[in-house]
Order: sequence, then C-alpha cells, then structure tokens
Amino acid sequence: FAESGIDAWLRYARLPSSATRGHLNSFPDRIVVLNASKNGPLASASSELHKGIKGILGLDLDVSSGGGKYCSAQKSIVVSTLDTYQSACGKLSPRPSLKDDGYWLSTKGGSVQIIGQNERGALYGAFQYLSLLGQGDFSEKAFASNPSAPVRWSNQWDNLNAATAAHGSIERGYGGPSIFFEDGLIKEDLSRVPLYGRLLASVGLNGIVINNVNADANLLNETNLVGLKRIADLFRPWGVNVGISLNFASPQVLGELSTFDPLDDAVIKWWTDKTDRIYQLVPDLAGYLVKANSEGQPGPLTYNRTLAEGANLFAKAVEPHGGIVVFRAFVYDQLNETDWKADRANAAVDFFKDLDGQFDDNVLVQIKYGPIDFQVREPASPLFANLPKTAVSIELEVTQEYLGQQSHLVYLPPLWQTVLGFDMRYNNRQSHVRDIISGEVFNHKLGGYAGVINVGMDDTWLGSHLAMSNMFAYGRLAWNPRADSRDLVEEWTRLTFGLDRDVVSTIADMSLESWPAYEGYSGNLGIQTLTDILYTHYGANPASQDNNGWGQWTRADRKTIGMDRTVSNGTGNAGQYPKEVAARFEHAETTPDDLMLWFHHVPYTFRLHSGKSVIQHFYDAHYAGAATVQKFPAAWRSLSSKIDAERYEAVLYKLQYQAGHSLVWRDGISEFYRNLSSIPDQLNRVRNH
Ligand code: GCU
Repeated sequence: FAESGIDAWLRYARLPSSATRGHLNSFPDRIVVLNASKNGPLASASSELHKGIKGILGLDLDVSSGGGKYCSAQKSIVVSTLDTYQSACGKLSPRPSLKDDGYWLSTKGGSVQIIGQNERGALYGAFQYLSLLGQGDFSEKAFASNPSAPVRWSNQWDNLNAATAAHGSIERGYGGPSIFFEDGLIKEDLSRVPLYGRLLASVGLNGIVINNVNADANLLNETNLVGLKRIADLFRPWGVNVGISLNFASPQVLGELSTFDPLDDAVIKWWTDKTDRIYQLVPDLAGYLVKANSEGQPGPLTYNRTLAEGANLFAKAVEPHGGIVVFRAFVYDQLNETDWKADRANAAVDFFKDLDGQFDDNVLVQIKYGPIDFQVREPASPLFANLPKTAVSIELEVTQEYLGQQSHLVYLPPLWQTVLGFDMRYNNRQSHVRDIISGEVFNHKLGGYAGVINVGMDDTWLGSHLAMSNMFAYGRLAWNPRADSRDLVEEWTRLTFGLDRDVVSTIADMSLESWPAYEGYSGNLGIQTLTDILYTHYGANPASQDNNGWGQWTRADRKTIGMDRTVSNGTGNAGQYPKEVAARFEHAETTPDDLMLWFHHVPYTFRLHSGKSVIQHFYDAHYAGAATVQKFPAAWRSLSSKIDAERYEAVLYKLQYQAGHSLVWRDGISEFYRNLSSIPDQLNRVRNH
C-alpha cells in the first residue's frame, strides 16, 4: 500500500496476526450477491468486500451471484436488497425495520448477511462490515442501521475555470485543483471521481453538488452537460447522485434571453427545456442548489419576485423528474456599523420567515449552522426554528475556511454537535436541531445535511491527512448525529493509521483538544474567529472585524466589546429564537460564557460566570490554547516508529507549523486587546507595544 493518503480510511491494511488469530479458519469462504443491477451499488458492494477482505485478512474469497441455494449456506457473506432476499430466501424474522438507504447486518452463526433496504443500503452495510473487520472486530452482532435523514450531500465549491476564479480553482479549497473541471470544461481525466464516490459512500453520503455555489452559467452548455453525464456515470456505482449549482441569471448570461425574471414565460420555458435535457442525460440527477441574491449573485429580488418564487421556478422544472431544489438561506445585505441595530445575524430570519409555507414540497432550504458564517463558535441559527412549514437542511463546512485552512488540526464534530444537539424549545417542547433537519419535529419527508467538503487533486484530498477525520465524521454524523465524537475519531484512526493503542489514543486526544485550543488562541466568548475577514479568512486580524460592510463585527472600543443582540437594547437577534431560548440569551446572567460576546456588549472588566473578567479570559484562553497545540508535535513524535515515514513527516510538518502559528495568533490577539483596553494581563505575559 502506498501511504500517500489517496485511500484515506479505506486502505484495507492487513491486520496483524495477533488480531486475526482464531478467526480465519471459520471465516466465510464466499461472497454471494443476489440480483445486482449492472454497475450499481450492489456490484460495488461485492467488489469492495472482495478487495477489503483480501487486504485486511489476506483471503481471496469466491464471488458468486445466485439465488436460493445459498440462502442457508454456511460460511457465506450474502449481500442483497431486502426484497430480493426475502423472495429468494423467505422472510427475515424478525423483519428488520429499514428506511431508505438503511441496512441489516448480521454476523451471527458463521455466516454474514448484509441486507439493504435498497442497493445503496447494501453498499453501506458492506462498508460497515469492512470497517468492523478493519478494526479487528470479529464479534457476533446483528443490527439494523438507518440514516437520520434522506439528504446527506457533499457540496463542492469547484470553479469551472481556475484562471478566472477569485481564490483558485476551488473556492475555499485547500487540497489542490478541482477533480472535475479544467479550463472551463469538465476534465477528460476523471479518474479521481470514482475514488471520491467510494469515500463518500463509505460514510453514508448519497449526493454531491459538483460546482461552486457562486455558479458559472457555462456549466449548462451542451459540452459540459455531456461531461456532467460522464461524472454522474462514475458516481452512480457508489450510490452518489449528482446535483449542480445554478446561476440564477443563466438564461440571460448564456445570451439566449434578455431577462431572468422567474415569472416570465420564456424564462420558465428556458429552465424547463434545460432541465429536461439534463435529465435526459442524467435521469437520476439529485437536483439543483441555488445561491441567489447573496454576495452579488443574481436572484429573483431583482425583479421584485420573492425568494420562494425563485426557488419554485426550479422546483417545478425538476419535479416531474423526481429532483429536489436546495435553496440556500445564506442571504444578507451589506450593513453600516454606525447603526447599532444593524445585524447580519438577523438576515436569514428576516429574509425567510415570512416565506414559510410558500415553498414547493420538493424545496429544501439549506441553512448554515450559525447565523453568520462558519465561525469558531456560533449559536445555532434561529432560522431552524422559524420555518415549521418548510423542509430544511444544515450546511456544515468540512473545509476549514475560517478554522486554519487545513494547516491547523481542528477536529470539528464537537463544534457541529453544539449546533445539532441544541434544543430550540419550539413551543416549549424538545426540538433539537438534529431532529428539525431530519424532518421529525415538523413532520417533513425531506431534510438533511450538506457538508462543504472541497477535496482537490492532492493525494490527501483535503490537503492534510488529519483533516480527513472531519470528512469521515461528517458522513457518520449525517447518518447518526448522536454518534460520539471520540468514537468516530478512534474508528477513523484505526482504519487510517492502524490499531496500535498509542496511535489511537494520541490522535484521538489531540483531535478532541484541537477545537477548544483553536477557539482559545483565536476568538473567544462568541466574539467570532477574529481572523482576517476581508479576503483570506486566514491568520489573526481582529481589526478587520469592524468598520466593514460585511456585518461581521465585534464593536470593540477602548472600554467595551461584543454585539448587543438583545431585544431590549440591541439588534433584537435574541428574540428570533423561540421564547425560552430567547429569554435565556436576552440576559447576560443566563447566557453561557462561550456566547457572551455574541449576545452582549459589555466592558472588558465584565465578570463572566467563570469569575474571570472578559479581558483576562482572552489572555488566559490564548495562552492555554497555544500551550495545548505546543504539545502536539511532541505527542506526534512519540509515534514515529508506528507510522509510515511519508505520512509521519507530512503530519509533523503541519503540527509544527500550527504550534508556531498559534503563538502568532496568541500574541496578535492578546496584544491587540491589551493595547485597545490598556488593561494589563494579571500574569504579565502580554507585552504592550
Ligand atoms: C463564505 C465564503 C464564500 C462563499 C460564501 C457562501 O462567505 O467565504 O467564499 O461563497 O460563504 O457560502 O456562499
């Protein structure tokens, strides 16, 4: 095995004999696949099982397809859909209760059953079985597993044309150029696509939007649509349906119409025809993703049409084909900071609340986890609790745009779970965000997850070996948002680096310390990340957080800091949450420290619940956060004999960089606020320049 990272957690590295002892003789000797469609997920399940078992155990199993005669055969791994299995082999009893994409996995009694509700489910079951084997787990088990939500997608922000892209060929991508596009066209060499599909499927992801939300209308030209078909054909065996981002003004940009008014008959016909053509080429297209009237993108508001009218234009076009429209809630205007009540955090609810009930049934409104933009700490977006009549999904970022851009280890599941596990108390009843987006709380069929992953051509995919735990865990959390972050990183580590206990515990410990550490040396108490927000979103730049039109403000002056988002005296943002939550955030006494400056404008001397002043918390958190990551290189070095040289060196390089950069962060932020407030650090660590 090359250890370049290309196989990520699917290396299928051979288990040491100590782990397989006593298990190989009784291991099944054949894989039986019932009724696989050509090049479908079931066929992938079978080839993947064969490959994985060969790698992990060194056993070259027979693969056969066949009917009833194998039903009760001992020592077989039977892979099938539930319907096929039951008609060939009789009822499974008790019949497992499976949802779309779910599976039943049994390893009891010397044979293995991997039964999917559909072919995709069987593939997921196969990957789960291989994960168990890869971790040396031969215990007998039988269980059903179902996804928390139907939509579990990757969003890629790939530009068609690197030369014209603002930030390189993938917007906010740190793993090299696009695997899909080159020079305005879909690449000839798409050999990375099935490898990516395999990774996505292995963690239960079932869809991908391949191009940037800041969309280039040229994706819709005929050459590219034919290319799109090639991409969809390569993802299909992995059960991954392709979707595309649309440029709202396409009918005009492509030069065919003089308007893009969503209620104009010619525009409607244009989109209907275009959609029909796309579905002719890609009959299982997942649907469209739309960023409209946001950050300079065109949209329906230009014609005084509502955002819902804009979304429904596409919804009607894809509806006959079974597609969906994902409409992004990331809509806001530039703001003026001299207005105390102006607040970008209010924008999503302001724009969308009144549209509740106006979206067609096949529209999903995709909401970023927090009200601003992927910050190191944000409260859950209040919009999750303001659209009871609309299906919604959550948008997470696997790519670490504001969070160290893959040069820092920041393991994100604990951050995501602060939002997924947040209880909105809608109508004073339990209503966790994870259950709102699953569709459970408000009774919607649609709902789910989008992760902005942004892999590129780099062998490590994301640009960093350790960052891949975020992609792995993203898929797993979309499947089961209650999964334990530590379990996830331990599983990922065993599959990626092997079973050695020190390796597993060292990587898991570092990972779990990493987000609190990053928050420590960047932005504390809900003040946002304090990175450069004007362009790079990288490195410390607290000054950039004010006097900008983006509405990402700290309102820091010589005496005070924080956004006043109270209803009584501020922007009213706290009041966008349901009553119980609103009451909690309205008052500093009931606001948790980690969101204090998100909701309240207070003096630097304000006492937190912890007993510390705001300014002393800043100093202490910055020193503690940096001190934590100072330990990472040594922790990693302790594993030197246990990790292959290639990955060992690459990771060490990153961790050393992070250790150094954390000092730049620590001093940059601490000294900035020391100068501004003139309040010294009680421990005298912070110099006054
Ligand atoms: C962020 C990001 C942009 C992106 C935007 C979006 O602001 O920096 O690059 O286009 O979000 O999500 O639409």
